[in-house]
Amino acid sequence: MLDSNYFHYTAATLHCDEVSLEKLAATFGTPLFVTSRRSLIESCLTFEHAFKELPHFTCYSVKANFNLTVIRTLAELGCGCDVNSGGELYRALQAGVAAEKIIFAGVGKRADEIAYALQSGVLMLKAESLPELRAINQIAGELGKRASVAIRINPNVTAETHPYITTGDSKEKFGVDEAELAELFSLFSEFPNLKLVGLDMHIGSQIFDPEYYVAATTKLLTIFKLSKELGFAIEFLDIGGGFPVTYDPLKPATPIERFAEKLVPMLRSLGVKVIFEPGRYLVANASVLLTRILYKKSNHTGKQFFVVDAGMTELIRPALYQSHHEIQSVKLHEKTVVADVVGPICESSDFFARQRAIPAAEEGELLAVMSSGAYGAVMGSNYNGRLRPAEVMVNGSEVKLVRKRETLEQLVENELF
Ligand code: LLP
Repeated sequence: MLDSNYFHYTAATLHCDEVSLEKLAATFGTPLFVTSRRSLIESCLTFEHAFKELPHFTCYSVKANFNLTVIRTLAELGCGCDVNSGGELYRALQAGVAAEKIIFAGVGKRADEIAYALQSGVLMLKAESLPELRAINQIAGELGKRASVAIRINPNVTAETHPYITTGDSKEKFGVDEAELAELFSLFSEFPNLKLVGLDMHIGSQIFDPEYYVAATTKLLTIFKLSKELGFAIEFLDIGGGFPVTYDPLKPATPIERFAEKLVPMLRSLGVKVIFEPGRYLVANASVLLTRILYKKSNHTGKQFFVVDAGMTELIRPALYQSHHEIQSVKLHEKTVVADVVGPICESSDFFARQRAIPAAEEGELLAVMSSGAYGAVMGSNYNGRLRPAEVMVNGSEVKLVRKRETLEQLVENELF
């Protein structure tokens, strides 16, 4: 069981803050994402506290959870945003984030997205290749603007995490290779419409060992030194995101303070602002995916299945990365049964747990798939004609619907005969 102050049993019923999940399911239906506003705030304050001695700016990586109210909650605490597409930029602006607190990233930005970012007045665009710098230079020229850019470096550090979420390795598509940087710097004089203001990296996600950050930051600092020697006035060093959270109580995440202990001394006295782009750290444990048990069944091997009304269309992480998410019953059960918890999608990979001890809940009862706040709803889909679920935010005893459940009409509204 995950030890969270925000999702806890009161009177043998799982609550978010002061609100019973039973009640939320009765009011809003299932599947339902339930987010604790207080948990969001606590993660953000813990992060900020850890890095308080460092002149820094935290840009919440909107890709983890782009719900407007989630973005706004973090923005109200002072966060800017890291966005990866025109769509995410639009969301951040709609949430009320000032453009000058938004950084625009992405390995494959289209011309219209570059123009949109420049016209919006974002803090900077992070470029990942020479052709991209050329494109930004040209578009900025056409718009009569000078674009502030950062270069994303590929530090060639292979952080230990799931292979699909490591990004700082030379075999991956991300960033500019170290070996190409000197040439790239020398070409900057050809880009009159660009101002190089930052150096950036992001080595992956859910990284437990601070030493990977140390190794990559060491490389970033060598490049920073070179850039200074070449006369560039770098204002921002962007360390990226990737800070870990606990999904499985048996594998607790390294506390953020351990990362700060290593990074703060390395970055404190450089005369630049350090940017962090945490996504998962801020949101993962703030939400659960609430789902109802439709059927329980077993087969001749004795294997048991709990068939629930949420699936990989709402939370694809177990299917895609074999990720562990704790599963708690809303009604407290002492007894457990070993079972697979599976969704209604016609794919064998549509599961939340396999052969795990699950609370012995009955058909019709509710389960909470824990730690679903990061890369949950945002990676959702309409596969199998599924409707995207509703999302609520809880603050103490207050409940707000922050995303309506999709309707059948919305499923087909963009299609034409
Ligand atoms: N900055 C950049 C440039 C990124 O690509 C990412 C995540 C972040 C920041 C935020 O990383 P975080 O702090 O959330 O680890 N869908 C996967 C994770 C993909 C991460 C993609 N990039 C998952 O569910 O585990």
